[in-house]
Amino acid sequence: CGIVGYVGEKQAQDVVIEGLRRLEYRGYDSAGIALIDAGTVSWQKRAGKLANLEKAIVDEPLVASTTGIGHTRWATHGAPNDVNAHPHLGRSGRLALVHNGILENFVELRTELENAGHELSSETDTEVAAHLLERELAAGVDLTTAMQRVCCRLEGAFTLVALDGEDPSRVVAARRNSPLVVGIGEGENFLGSDVSAFIEHTREAMELGQDQVVTITREAVAVTGFDGSPAEGRRYHVNWDLSAAEKDGHDWFMRKEIYEQPRAVADSLLGRRDAAGQLQLDEMRLSDQDLRDIDKIIIIACGTSFYAGMVAKYAIEHWTRIPVEVELASEFRYRDPILTSSTLVVAISQSGETADTLQAIRHARQQRSRVLAICNTNGSTIPRESDAVIYTHAGPEIGVASTKGFLTQLVACYLLALYLAQVKGTRFGDEITEIMDQLESMPAHIQGVLDDDEAMYALAREHVDARSVLFLGRHAGYPVALEGALKLKELAYLHAEGFAAGELKHGPIALVEDRLPVLCVVPPQGRDQLRDKMLSGIQEVRARGARTICLVEEGDETIAPYADVLVRLPKVPVLLQPLVAVVPLQLFACELATALGHDVDQPRNLAKSVTVE
Ligand code: G6P
Repeated sequence: CGIVGYVGEKQAQDVVIEGLRRLEYRGYDSAGIALIDAGTVSWQKRAGKLANLEKAIVDEPLVASTTGIGHTRWATHGAPNDVNAHPHLGRSGRLALVHNGILENFVELRTELENAGHELSSETDTEVAAHLLERELAAGVDLTTAMQRVCCRLEGAFTLVALDGEDPSRVVAARRNSPLVVGIGEGENFLGSDVSAFIEHTREAMELGQDQVVTITREAVAVTGFDGSPAEGRRYHVNWDLSAAEKDGHDWFMRKEIYEQPRAVADSLLGRRDAAGQLQLDEMRLSDQDLRDIDKIIIIACGTSFYAGMVAKYAIEHWTRIPVEVELASEFRYRDPILTSSTLVVAISQSGETADTLQAIRHARQQRSRVLAICNTNGSTIPRESDAVIYTHAGPEIGVASTKGFLTQLVACYLLALYLAQVKGTRFGDEITEIMDQLESMPAHIQGVLDDDEAMYALAREHVDARSVLFLGRHAGYPVALEGALKLKELAYLHAEGFAAGELKHGPIALVEDRLPVLCVVPPQGRDQLRDKMLSGIQEVRARGARTICLVEEGDETIAPYADVLVRLPKVPVLLQPLVAVVPLQLFACELATALGHDVDQPRNLAKSVTVE
């Protein structure tokens, strides 16, 4: 989501709307604005693009004001409609709040408010925070204190920005694990999800730390911890131009999205366990009995999402013992698949609009199968036509080639597998807890891989003259090899192919010639049988002159003698390894394409969402 806040001398409406326009790439399913007018809040919000909000303001003008906040949304909880759009108002209309992130304990807090007589009008977690803030204001404290008190009660990741109609001098914001920067002007100050929100007005910025509350007035910026203790933000000067600012200083949206992956994975895991540690999937909508009756799962998807489905097969079958087929959506319908009411069809689609996938689920539903969608776009067609949804929380993905979309799809697939294991009782509760704990440690591991980016970039630049690149993997590393090859095709327009390493001897080895780069995803230690077989594949291609680039778990020294290049991966279980192993391959493809001078965000002939069959 995109967030803007302003206090100053200019018309806040103009500053906020312009800021939202700059932030629209962060979310565009609804937009809203709130301004302060003599004791109350004047506001407007609309589903759809910012243009809808602008039209609404022309039809029903807001008051003139120099203090305002705004929001452009990418829905996480609740459909993208007018009611769920931000700002959210408390019940008296005195307070307006915009929010980015996920409040993990909102169900609990909502119940507490409802028991105290509050009526909530939307399905969002944000409204809960609005009511809590208003309750504090009603008790007589100022907005800064109210914000501190409420934040102490919130769990999850969030940026909150609020206005109090009775105090037009300030805008107050808070952040935990979610972006927020301050823009420092003269006689005016700004808040934004990133600097592009205010870069036209000032290049002086302040970064906030974790768990901090900031109060901006015309003349001052004051930072505290959630406990009210004084704190300091870090001042810096922004020397990016506007287009780099949108990309957080990166050259491509895709590169920015690669670096967002630790955050995207963490967000996709938020709020999935209840207080007792049981998995809960909020839009599951299939009863436990329905799920217990499932005797076969068919996963359908296209492109990168299809490879997420291939990983899912390994996890679901291993954890639940339910047979899983994975099929390209475009092939599925035309082969007269065997579907019954006890078949669960899982459609994986980042955009939720891919025509092949949509037609496939329509066919499945005609045959009375249940359909569950894994999707990143709230309110898109595929989840709307499905019986159940697991939303990923990657935020909008702009680069045509999917990166954070893929990683969060993997997370959703693991969650689905574990949820089925919980319902069917195929795994003990503490096993599920252990795997969830491992999943929750993945953002840190992914960050570790990203911290090593330079080595991968240098490697990519060494390969600008490559004519062909092969990728090998086994088990869950096989789809990773396919995805690594797809990325290179999409971005660098290179001949690239992924193979199951065991198939090498049945054909692909004939392709190997001197200096051919072969990237090998090596299974982790502890899966020694798999790893040893992989090792013989590596030896075979190397003996024929290939240059072996091996992605190997840290501490595993057995591969080193056969690797021309070693890329170290963190130590993680084999089923979760795709979450870390695919990242160096994304970096490789992105950098190689950049070095070749290609447009990484919009590769030739490709579209982000393909709405024709
Ligand atoms: C297009 C995109 C791919 C994507 C595929 C499936 O081909 O270029 O990056 O993987 O569609 O998209 P979906 O939105 O259904 O996941």
